[in-house]
Amino acid sequence: MLRHTINEVREQIKKWKKEGLTVGLVPTMGALHAGHLSLIKKSVEKCDRTVVSVFVNPIQFCPGEDLDKYPRTLEADEKLCSDAGVDIVFAPSPKEMYGEGHILSNDFLTYVIPPYFYVDKLCGKSRVGHFDGVCTVVNKLFNIVQPDYAFFGQKDAQQLIIIKKMVKDLNIPVEIIPCPIVREESGLALSSRNKYLSDEDKKEALALSKILFNIKACYDKGITDVKALTETAYSFLNEHHALEYLEFRDKENLEEKTVADDNTQVFIALKIGDVRLIDNILLG
Ligand code: PAF
Repeated sequence: MLRHTINEVREQIKKWKKEGLTVGLVPTMGALHAGHLSLIKKSVEKCDRTVVSVFVNPIQFCPGEDLDKYPRTLEADEKLCSDAGVDIVFAPSPKEMYGEGHILSNDFLTYVIPPYFYVDKLCGKSRVGHFDGVCTVVNKLFNIVQPDYAFFGQKDAQQLIIIKKMVKDLNIPVEIIPCPIVREESGLALSSRNKYLSDEDKKEALALSKILFNIKACYDKGITDVKALTETAYSFLNEHHALEYLEFRDKENLEEKTVADDNTQVFIALKIGDVRLIDNILLG
């Protein structure tokens, strides 16, 4: 079930399509956890065949980010996928995906660039070029696997919104299936980057979900003024936290809200030491 080349995957997909089978794709960067497994489960339930891609995509990492130390656990990932009923784990090398060219320079690569309005905010603000890399690789994966359905987690909400926009704008024949955030009992949203956290850091990381749950509780009580809702966050922050953003935006088009409503999504990014964590909640 492990495949490293585009040709091998293409051959298999061709056979499945001939048989009239539906194909689900779960794109990942590996280091699979229960969050990914919830996406995989949905795909296995919904589709005749499921492909999980495991590819730490170099072009979505900005200079100084964690590309080299990003967790790579292919053997364990393959086992989890096999137990979950996945048909293909597609784990290409960077050279397989991008050829020699990009290793020398990204100037020799065709990119898919999402609209500026969607990327100049939230994570895109500090991670310049990140969503160009995401859209480019996701587009390539769509072309390679030609899935009927593709499954994305709502934890990376800006990514999900941008991918939906790309699919619509470029008429890509795939249905995007958003999947809910999976949390530890403590409230901490699952993320491959949680592996970087010490036990102490993990306690500090609870600030993200506490802030979001508290904002939702205040909204449910009738507070809609975004300034007032934002102020409720500060009591959860201490000297271990560096708040990157806490923003209230429309869940479809990311427009900023000054008065919260049921279409408002609250986005947070917080750094604990070197580890940057994100989370979000929908108020409606
Ligand atoms: O969400 C991720 O893990 C990645 O951004 C994705 C969608 C697999 C593209 O590399």
